[in-house]
Amino acid sequence: MRVKNRLSVLVLLMCCALFACQCSQLETASTRERILFNEDWKFYKYESVEQADSLIYDIRPAIGEVMDNKDADSRPTAPVQMETKQIVLKPWVLPTANKFIKDDANKHRRPHGNPGSDFAFVQADFDDSSWERVDLPQDWAIKGPFQVGWNSEVGGGMGRLPCNGVAWYRKKFLVPQSDHGKSIFLDIDGAMSYAMVWLNGSLIGGWPYGYNSWRLDLSDYLRFGEENQLAIRVDNPNHSARWYSGGGIYRNVWLTKTNKIHVGQWGTYITTSQVSEEKANVHVEVTIDNDLLENVSVACVTEIYPVDCNKQEVVPIGLLLQKVKIKGKQSATIKESVIIDHPQLWNPLPKGEAHLYQAITTVMQNGKILDVYETNFGIRKIEFDADTGVLINGEYIKLKGVNQHHDLGALGAAFNSRAAERQLEILRDMGCNAIRMAHNPPAPELLDLADRMGFVVIDEIFDSWEKKKTPHDFHLIFPEWSEPDARSFIRRDRNHPSVIIWSFGNEVGEQYDGKKGAKVGKRLYDILKEEDPSRPTITAMNFAKPYMELPAVADFIGLNYQGEGIRQDTFFNGVDRIRTKPQYDAFHQEFPNKVIISTETASAFSSRGVYLFPVTSKTSSYVRNGIGGDTNRQQVSSYELYAVDFGSSADKVFKSLETHPFVAGEFVWTGFDYLGEPTPYYLSRSCYSGIIDLAGFKKDRYYLYQAHWRDNYPMVHILPHWDWPDRVGKITPVHVFTSGDEVELFFNDKSLGKKKKKKYEYRLRWDNIIYEPGEIKAVAYKNGKVWAEERMKTTGEAAQLMAEVDRKVIKADGKDLAFISVKVCDKNDLLKVNALHRISFSMEGPGEIVATDNGDPTDMESFASTSRKAFSGRCLVVVKGIKGQEGTMVVKAESDGLKPARIIVRTEK
Ligand code: GAL
Repeated sequence: MRVKNRLSVLVLLMCCALFACQCSQLETASTRERILFNEDWKFYKYESVEQADSLIYDIRPAIGEVMDNKDADSRPTAPVQMETKQIVLKPWVLPTANKFIKDDANKHRRPHGNPGSDFAFVQADFDDSSWERVDLPQDWAIKGPFQVGWNSEVGGGMGRLPCNGVAWYRKKFLVPQSDHGKSIFLDIDGAMSYAMVWLNGSLIGGWPYGYNSWRLDLSDYLRFGEENQLAIRVDNPNHSARWYSGGGIYRNVWLTKTNKIHVGQWGTYITTSQVSEEKANVHVEVTIDNDLLENVSVACVTEIYPVDCNKQEVVPIGLLLQKVKIKGKQSATIKESVIIDHPQLWNPLPKGEAHLYQAITTVMQNGKILDVYETNFGIRKIEFDADTGVLINGEYIKLKGVNQHHDLGALGAAFNSRAAERQLEILRDMGCNAIRMAHNPPAPELLDLADRMGFVVIDEIFDSWEKKKTPHDFHLIFPEWSEPDARSFIRRDRNHPSVIIWSFGNEVGEQYDGKKGAKVGKRLYDILKEEDPSRPTITAMNFAKPYMELPAVADFIGLNYQGEGIRQDTFFNGVDRIRTKPQYDAFHQEFPNKVIISTETASAFSSRGVYLFPVTSKTSSYVRNGIGGDTNRQQVSSYELYAVDFGSSADKVFKSLETHPFVAGEFVWTGFDYLGEPTPYYLSRSCYSGIIDLAGFKKDRYYLYQAHWRDNYPMVHILPHWDWPDRVGKITPVHVFTSGDEVELFFNDKSLGKKKKKKYEYRLRWDNIIYEPGEIKAVAYKNGKVWAEERMKTTGEAAQLMAEVDRKVIKADGKDLAFISVKVCDKNDLLKVNALHRISFSMEGPGEIVATDNGDPTDMESFASTSRKAFSGRCLVVVKGIKGQEGTMVVKAESDGLKPARIIVRTEK
């Protein structure tokens, strides 16, 4: 059925009303149930990998003497070939991938036998009472302890936390007799990593890659009307990533119950075309699985509504109906289109009117509703132009993006929606409108947030292909899993309006491999295109040049650091590393029809509140001891001029983007500090590249981006702080960031004159100020009018703690979080940036302290500690309520000799 115009919509709505009447007479009793399966697991982790059982997925090459303090742009190397006669469980796990393997000849058959069935942990009668009771999502490593030193087992690269190791999760659950005859699935949004699942003693499958979501059909192994025993083995290798992976089942787990005839896993695919404010074509594909042996005939109707309306009271604005025959144990896909008049468009930030629709798909047979499946989607018109970049709904948007790893700082890898939302809010206020999911698919809920808040997303799947960056990374499973991982990645995420580009690789070793490497890329490219022809693809390249083979493969050119040039300073003369002249023009010339995006820029470093002298007179510099860096303290200066050897300061990137307006925009490495990869100080726990620190506190750089990205938002920001008792009489440069165009600086009420931003200048510098205590005041102007004002004063003695909370009321669901920022202040409420006081946190009422942090990359105190030293005057404490308990939590922060602070947070059902 097709709706052609407004009139036919009306006709259809009448039909729809009719249909609704029929529906009300239909039997609707038991359709789909999606049950959150997170609570009440038993957990056991072996003390060491050596002690673990031998139920391994596959053997792995020895690590050898590898150090994980290699620079990120070290050349990836060839895999090590391994063979074994040992029994490995891979053959029993591989069939889980079959739905995501196109060619029948490549699908896997389950071998005979049932490995592990005699192992104690998979038995129902095994006594797990001494195991830890946990709720998911869980990151087993985040509480530490941190492993310090050069020779720790888990090094700086993976965040010095015990994320490696082998562990088991067990759960008993009852499936009622009434569910007999249904299909019952276990849906795991992410388990880190090499998960293998036994149900009632049988190994039923698993999924090695920790970042993908996956499903197991439990139906044939369940005991209906009885208790069932689930046992999941997770085995996360050391040296499997260049960053902190987290460990364990760190995303949501669901039990999904459907009729035997049901919409398949991620079984809808919704695209739009010919989108305008007047109308839009919506194309809906629905794949229905028939898990019965016999052939069936069903009807399928999809209704479309605005996402948040009350569906009982509103008539659908689009409706599609089709009949289909499905053979036994097969699937069938139906395709339909509908025209929606005057659609509410999905508009990204800064507009952020990100309207969403919901498609409700109903599968019926002989007057019975068998399944109801909901899909959120958005209607937007995206155009890409190699000369101008990205247009959404006809409006040009420069990509002002950041890269984000998946960890949530002190909360680790365990996904928490509120923690992710807070990150996005802070980024949005900075003027950021785009996220690159570096370098792997995120939790599905993060894309829901991006959809609702209006961020655009580059969704990315791999950091390595066949070649390896670390000894145990994805390359080990690339041959068998690259296809299923790539297909399942797209199928899960392809209805999100926020996702505008698929990325299938980051700085892969195949860049160096000419035709051979390009062939590997082309195979992945074709898979992506088969799964979603509606979106362009990209790979992020830090080495490949325009004349090489890999750049020709993807639709777009993704450049990491190459636009600004890599290691161009004469300091790097003679160094045997990537050295590259600025590449935007060369790529644009070679590929005049390909959009260019700077998938990674900057990788600039800083430690919040730390300022080191002297300050470079350049606009961008590498970091060394005494040049922006302090090897003893392991901190980098917040003058925000220093970057990784192959990177550039924000200022330098801004200029290179402005002088190459065809570049669609940038993704800064990174929005937030993340755990692991602590270049340039390997002994630290977390990185220095965030615009915002690990605790969520803004570094000075935040204001540099805000000034440039939100030029209509009145702001001015001064650095450094003005508490330098040991710098009296010494040169102490003052830098000012503003969205205005001119600044007058006052030092102890004396004007130091006005400075105007010149073309391609993004900060105003007073580099010769001789420090003395007092006050620095900056008055910013825009077009000759006062625009914003800020003062920085010398503070008095530390006298008090002050606290503020991001939200005063949170949900009493045991998941929602309140983020309380505590600062050390003098009696006039001025922040003491030099303060390092130890602060203790306590709480009364129906809640608990989840974690504390201070954003210091060198702090090795467990995130679970309720006491922490302030770093640059600040600390963070994260609290949550108790499920089902409404009330008032009182959180107290205390420190010797200081007036304490108290914050009240209410929890509501
Ligand atoms: C890039 C890499 C990122 C990160 C960054 C650190 O080369 O793609 O994953 O390692 O360097 O500077």
